[in-house]
Amino acid sequence: MSFKINDNVTWVGKIDWELRKFHGEELSAHRGSSYNSYLVRGSEKTALIDTVWRPFAGEFVENLKKEIDLKEIDYIIANHGEVDHSGALPELLREIPGTPVYCSGAAVKSLKGQYHQEWNFKPVKTGDKLSLGDRELVFVEAKMLHWPDSMFCYLTENNILFPNDAFGQHYASELMYNDLVDQCELFQEAIKYYANILTPFSKLVTAKIKEVVGMNLPVEMICPSHGILWRDDPLQIVNKYMEWADAYSEHQVTIVYDTMWDGTRKAAEAVSAGIKEADGSLGVKLYNAARSDTNDIVTEIFKSKAVVVGSPTINKGVLHSIASLLDMAKGLKFQDKKGAAFGCYGWSGESVKLINGLLEEAGFELINKEGVRCMWNPDQDAVAALKALGKEVGSALA
Ligand code: FEO
Repeated sequence: MSFKINDNVTWVGKIDWELRKFHGEELSAHRGSSYNSYLVRGSEKTALIDTVWRPFAGEFVENLKKEIDLKEIDYIIANHGEVDHSGALPELLREIPGTPVYCSGAAVKSLKGQYHQEWNFKPVKTGDKLSLGDRELVFVEAKMLHWPDSMFCYLTENNILFPNDAFGQHYASELMYNDLVDQCELFQEAIKYYANILTPFSKLVTAKIKEVVGMNLPVEMICPSHGILWRDDPLQIVNKYMEWADAYSEHQVTIVYDTMWDGTRKAAEAVSAGIKEADGSLGVKLYNAARSDTNDIVTEIFKSKAVVVGSPTINKGVLHSIASLLDMAKGLKFQDKKGAAFGCYGWSGESVKLINGLLEEAGFELINKEGVRCMWNPDQDAVAALKALGKEVGSALA
């Protein structure tokens, strides 16, 4: 499959309807994804921007041959070295060896490190230009968005920004354009992508957007490397990124717990009741971490003003789903969020203190330094204490 975006640009990527896990097993992709590759024809030269993930390399090259004699590709642009975009380079460059590969200096290292090939690399920096005749590609390094090698490029005359992973979504759709797809699905996938991939780099997101805006380049379209292409009001996703990068939250609190014999679940529900008593307008969402998709929980935490975390004590520790989630939260470096802890125990009862420590390490400001520990199943007094914790949380977020 390929399709013409306009007289100069043709999409030659791959829609992956089957994808359900990305980055190994780390990131869920409920709605599949796409690996977007673009063939750009100027009056004199032709460039290919990015390729596809390795399993689709053969299919990609065969498809590309239907679109163009491969020898007519003058330049390859590798905006990013990660294998979901560079995976077809070995197969493609076996067909057209010596074709120059334009990429950032860091991408030379990552591509050499991954493929161990001495391709004809042409490292570029921000502001460098590549003429295609009647139009040119302008390069903008985008270090740590989200790899050191990430880069954007911009096509003059057509006024298209190709930002690679930025502004993307793991969202398969044959409709291809933002104005044609279900808006709830689109923005759910866009915010999940931001929350799980870009959150640690939020300060860089803000700075990079300001830098690109400062270049005064008109933007008629944004064509990322995953998901749909932004053609209708393309700057709407840029504005969303500015919001998401600035300590984003909605009027929401997320309660995440794991439970062995339902005691900590009941505790979670008591905390929830307390929150609602304090502020009925506050959205409260409860997730059993062991039974829910971790990346969906991360997205809900991203949208929340606070997270309240519960685990029973086991072997003087916490259940592994909670330990794993809080470790992930630490890496994501959420900004300006609060936290609190609770949990059941039978004898030693360390879990609440441990959760408080993990929350603080992950950058959450504790609303209550102690949290609530419940011995065995929560009794009336314990339920009252849990509700009081909930009320404190609700009041703190008003
Ligand atoms: Fe879509 Fe960072 O690769």
